[in-house]
Parts: sequence; structure tokens; C-alpha cells
Amino acid sequence: MIIAIDGTTSSGKGTLAKRLAAHYRLPHLDTGLLYRAVAASALTKGIGVQDERECALLAEHIELSDFDERELRGAGVGAAASVVASLGAVRRALFELQRRFALKEGGAVLDGRDIGTVIAPDADVKLWIDASVEERARRRFKELSGMGEDVTQESVLAQLRERDARDAGRKDAPMKPADDAVWIDTTALDPDQTLAKAVEIVEAKRLVLKPKAKAPAKPRAKKQPKV
Ligand code: DC
Repeated sequence: MIIAIDGTTSSGKGTLAKRLAAHYRLPHLDTGLLYRAVAASALTKGIGVQDERECALLAEHIELSDFDERELRGAGVGAAASVVASLGAVRRALFELQRRFALKEGGAVLDGRDIGTVIAPDADVKLWIDASVEERARRRFKELSGMGEDVTQESVLAQLRERDARDAGRKDAPMKPADDAVWIDTTALDPDQTLAKAVEIVEAKRLVLKPKAKAPAKPRAKKQPKV
């Protein structure tokens, strides 16, 4: 079973993806970390985050285990990742890795912006996670100030708006819900409630997906011994 989770920044999609993967014992890939890793690598090497050719070369050899996840999650890397993610050649360079993950035997959970539309349009379950921009800013501010970053709620709100506009407005694989995605608005939901809603949606989908039980074979008439 492939579960594709897309949505806006700080909507709770990452937490949900992690918990849903644990619930169904499926491997999980946070695809945002790939773009963050390319951005972090470019920043370290002094490569411009708008340099499509050089960033694509970095993307071709990106290895998540080479990075410290905490550093990747910082606000500076996030803003640079949003620029890097708008480069078509970078997206193409990261496609195969994500596609292979989606096709893991037994299934997988992937979260990002274009999973249901580009990476796994064939996903069994597609979720679109969103929340009001004010609530997302409140969550992101809490997360960043908890990491010791010097931010205000207003600056976080402005950055979120800018990121939303760039992610949704780019030419290649813009952030958008797949036509067949089920929406969850997490503005008034905590992580447990979000998980419960998602499990409900996945279970409903699984009922439809379950292979139909074969009708029992009719007993064959026994051959009469020839006399
Ligand atoms: O989910 P995140 O904040 O870690 O993502 C970082 C950036 O990468 C964000 O600006 C959107 C982009 N991204 C993307 O374009 N496609 C994905 N599948 C995942 C993330």
C-alpha cells in the first residue's frame, strides 16, 4: 500500500506521515529532507541555490545519512530548500530515488508537495493536509524557538506566506492536492486526532482495495466408475 501525504509547511503532515508509517509498519520518506539536504550542501559548498546545473549535480549524489537532521530542519535551510525545489533539474534528479522508495515491496509512506501528483500518482491513498496560515505560523514559531532560533511569530508568518507562494507558484510540480486526495484540515486537530482521521480514511480505502474473496469452487461431480 502506497500512502501519499502532501500539504503545506507546518500543517502537521510530517508528524502524521511518521505516525501513520509506524501504525501500518511501513517505511517512511520525508521528501522535504531531500530538498533541504541539497540546499544545505549548496550553502556549505558556496554554490548558489539558484544554480540549476550545480544543484542538480549535488542532488544526483545526495545521501541523507550524510546530514544531521536537526541542522536540515533549521529555518535558513528551509528557505533555501524552497528555492532549490523550484529548479526543474533538481526535481528530475531526485525523482528516481523517491519513485524507488514508493515502489518498495509491501508499500511505503511518503510526504511532500508532489507525491500524489508526480512521484506516486498511482498511490492507494492520497491525503492533503492543511491548516490556517496563522495556526501553522504558531506551530512553526514554537518549533523554531524550541530549536534556539532567533525568530518572532510575525517573521515566521511572513516566511510561511512567502514559502507557500513559491511552492504553489513554481512551474515544475507545484504544490497542489491531487484530484483524488482526501483533505484533512488540522487547524483544530491535535496529532492524535489527525492520526485517527487519517487511519479512518486509510481503512475505508483498504476495504475497497481488498482483493475480492474468490467464490468457492463448485464441487465437481464425481465420475461414475464404468461398469
Ligand atoms: O516539507 P519541508 O518544509 O521540509 O520542505 C522543504 C522545501 O522543499 C519546501 O519549500 C517545499 C519543498 N518540497 C518540494 O517542493 N517537494 C517535495 N516533495 C517536498 C518538499
